Parts: sequence; structure tokens; C-alpha cells
Amino acid sequence: MQATTSPVTQFAASWLPEIDRTLAEAIGNGEPKELYEAMHYAALGPGKRMRPLLAIASCQAAGGAPDAALPVAAALEMAHAFSLVHDDLPCMDDDDMRRGRPTVHKAFGEAVALLAGDALMAGACAYLARFDQPWAAPAVAELAGSVADGMIPGQVLDMIWEGHPDEADLDRLHSLKTGRLIVAACRMGGLAAGASRPVLEALAHYGAHVGLAFQIADDILDAQEPGGSDEIKNKATYPGRFGLDGARDLAAKQIHLATAALSRIPAPLKAAEGGTLDVLEAIARYAIERDH
Ligand code: IPE
Ligand code: IPE
Ligand code: MG
Ligand code: MG
Ligand code: MG
Repeated sequence: MQATTSPVTQFAASWLPEIDRTLAEAIGNGEPKELYEAMHYAALGPGKRMRPLLAIASCQAAGGAPDAALPVAAALEMAHAFSLVHDDLPCMDDDDMRRGRPTVHKAFGEAVALLAGDALMAGACAYLARFDQPWAAPAVAELAGSVADGMIPGQVLDMIWEGHPDEADLDRLHSLKTGRLIVAACRMGGLAAGASRPVLEALAHYGAHVGLAFQIADDILDAQEPGGSDEIKNKATYPGRFGLDGARDLAAKQIHLATAALSRIPAPLKAAEGGTLDVLEAIARYAIERDH
């Protein structure tokens, strides 16, 4: 038995079953079975569920009931799963393994993987839009916007920028391809809580710094792996540009800025729900301290 568990591990353990239950429900089951099997395989595999956890913690930090964020949490993970399925395709990163298992195109074929990704993204928006709630339309706009204006342009830059661009360009690339969906996770959690504009802005600033740090950490983990694929593919990464220690320092700086952004959340909310800002602080640290 583990002697101590971190606040993130505890928070994740308490929410993962509900997140996955909502996610399975949001994807649903229909015909043809092959498509739905591929969608469930893509979205419900053993991932960290970081974006759902950020949405729930943000909702709580904004004074909302945490389970109010479950629909946005599920939609965020569907959009994230879509991005991973397409990211792994032969025409992109051409990866055979994801989350310790064959990638979706290896398990189901390339055409089904492509279409399962499409269905997850469109399905995420349709699922949210069906809620008769004031947050529904803004949440759809936030999610779809973060993909159309963020992740996808970022993925295109990731393909066309090779080698070692300067820090401003790396920052832009990472903030688009990974940061924007993480900003959306924090803002959508805030929307589910009915948060005010200043609180949404504080959550967005927090998310932008966490998102950038999260991708720097992803690149550091790749660079530490023997035969890490970013170097082979000459990807534009922080460790490639600044070395492992330089990248670690820059990621730590982002986490410091993320924590500072939380100080803009008004004091009465900080006291609500037993100090949930602590969870956001802990998730920020986890973003760079994680080992996978
Ligand atoms: C991997 O994301 C891709 C990036 C955007 C860095 P995660 O590290 O969140 O992957 P899972 O969901 O835990 O598998
Ligand atoms: C992926 O970045 C960013 C996405 C938008 C999916 P990577 O290509 O570095 O992610 P991994 O390392 O394959 O998970
Ligand atoms: Mg990629
Ligand atoms: Mg990849
Ligand atoms: Mg990577």
C-alpha cells in the first residue's frame, strides 16, 4: 500500500470513474459497431484525463459544484482523443503505440481511425449543444474554437517547422497545439460554474501557462526516452532548442506564472469548497513533474 498519495492522485482517483462513465455515455453506442468500438478504444484507454480533471478543478475553484463540469469534461476528452488519433496517423507522427497499446489505426485500420477521430470531435460538440443550460452554447464555442483556431493550426506548424525555431516561435507552436485545449478545459470548467468574466480570464491565464509547460514536459519525456521519436523526426521542441536542463527551467517558470495567475481569483471563492485552488496548484506542478 502506498504510504502517501499526492493531492493530484487523490483528486484523480476520486473523479476518474465518474469521468469515464460520462465519457462512455457521451460517445454512446450505435452502428456500425466498428466505428463505436474505435471511438471507445480511442477515448477510454488508460490516459491521465488531465483536461477533464482541470475542468472539474476549475469549476470548483470558480465556486461551482464539481459534478456540474462532468459534461464539459467528457467533451474535452473526446476532443483530446480525436487529436491523438489523428496525431498518430501515418501522414502525421506515424506512431504505432499510444497509452501502451496499438494506436487506433493499427487496431482498426487507417480509414476507421480517421473517421472515428472525426466522429469524436463532431460528437463532442453535438453532445454539449444538447444540454439546455446557459453554459452549453459558450462551451461549444470554446471547445470548437480551441480546436479550429488552436490545436489544428498548431499541428500544421508542428509539421512544417522542423529543427530549432527561436523561443517565441516554440512558445507559439506549443501554446496553439496543446495550450489552447488546456485553456479551453479551464474556461469550460469556469463556464459550468457560471463564473464571472474576471474569473474566466484568470482561469485562462492559468491554463495558458499550464498548457505550455505541459507540452514542454511532453517533449522532455520524449527526449529522455531511448530512441525518442521527436529527435528522429527533427521536431521543434524545447529540449532540442535549450537542452534538457534549459527546457526544465522554462517549464518551471511557466508553472510559477500559472500559480501566480490563480491569485487573481477573488478571495471568497478561494475559501469555498475547502481550498480547491490547492488542486489547481497541484495539477500545475504535476504537469511538469509527471513521469508519463
Ligand atoms: C499527449 O497528451 C499529447 C499532448 C497534447 C501533449 P496527454 O499526455 O494528456 O495524453 P494522455 O491523455 O494522458 O494519454
Ligand atoms: C501532440 O503533440 C499534440 C496534439 C495536439 C495531439 P505530440 O505529437 O508531441 O504528442 P505525443 O507525444 O504524440 O503524445
Ligand atoms: Mg505530433
Ligand atoms: Mg505525436
Ligand atoms: Mg510528444
